[in-house]
Amino acid sequence: MGIKANTVTTKREWRQIYAIYGMEQWQTLLFLLCHAIFFSLSSVVFLFYFDPICAFFNSFLSLGAAARFAAGFSGAVLGISAVCLFFAAGNFFYSALPLHYDMAQRMVGSVNDWSTVKTALDIGCGRGILLNAVATQLKKTGSSGRVVGLDRSKRTTLSTLRTANMEGVQEYVTCREGDVRSLPFGDNYFDVVVSGVFFHTVGKEYGPRTVEAAAERMRVLGEMVRVLKPDGVGVVWDLMHVPEYVQRLQDLKMEDIRVSERVTAFMVSSHIVTFRKPSQHIAGPGEVRLDWRC
Ligand SMILES: C[S@@+](CC[C@H](N)C(=O)[O-])C[C@H]1O[C@@H](n2cnc3c(N)ncnc32)[C@H](O)[C@@H]1O
Repeated sequence: MGIKANTVTTKREWRQIYAIYGMEQWQTLLFLLCHAIFFSLSSVVFLFYFDPICAFFNSFLSLGAAARFAAGFSGAVLGISAVCLFFAAGNFFYSALPLHYDMAQRMVGSVNDWSTVKTALDIGCGRGILLNAVATQLKKTGSSGRVVGLDRSKRTTLSTLRTANMEGVQEYVTCREGDVRSLPFGDNYFDVVVSGVFFHTVGKEYGPRTVEAAAERMRVLGEMVRVLKPDGVGVVWDLMHVPEYVQRLQDLKMEDIRVSERVTAFMVSSHIVTFRKPSQHIAGPGEVRLDWRC
């Protein structure tokens, strides 16, 4: 199996990706677009009705020049805000679909040989962009392996099975409802465990920067390592806390820990972290005991 240094990605048009996976968190996109349109229209109103607006400002400030400055400044701020909001909406859309698909290809591309993989797991599988990318690799390489997608939402797991069907990889995919904080699998079970834009959401009910949330993330990373077979490969793509993950993986004595170059997604820096669980894991006389749990 092992980790590959250079990865090859398969390109696909965003319309095809949208047709299968739709848009997760479309409310955020709608929110950004509505505000962008509102700010644009407001700045156009400032442009066309500059003199009446100056007169309106003047009725408060009673200073001609200051009123013109206030009106001009407000119009400029509205215009700049509209541009920023359109940019944010574009980046959100790009990150949620074409980039997400591309990153899933990169992630699966970092595993050396899928033909020898028998069991794989995607934690927090969502609508299945990454899960189906894994299943596609299993299918392509003629592996007899299967991938399990774990998500806490029953509705999500049902729609994930639909997307697997649309991708033609349904026989390689099983979906399971469960909580990643305590993975419902035995120790040393999977050859590969992957996770995309998920870890930073763990423990967010405590607030993203709290000690409790960090402890939950570390616990889930420990769970990921626990269910991984010795010599198994872990691949995590996330938007935040990457140094924290690397530190935890080092503490857990993982090998070949690699961090990809920075990729801007959802307006923040993201990285793919890959690692391998060492083959020596059974504690015996003179051997090192590695405990994957917190
Ligand atoms: C952003 S989506 C992940 C997208 C997915 N990895 C992909 O590549 O398409 C996050 C998913 O994690 C699931 N989730 C959140 N907390 C969870 C938990 N504690 N246990 C299991 N799944 C969880 C959510 O239901 C959601 O579907």
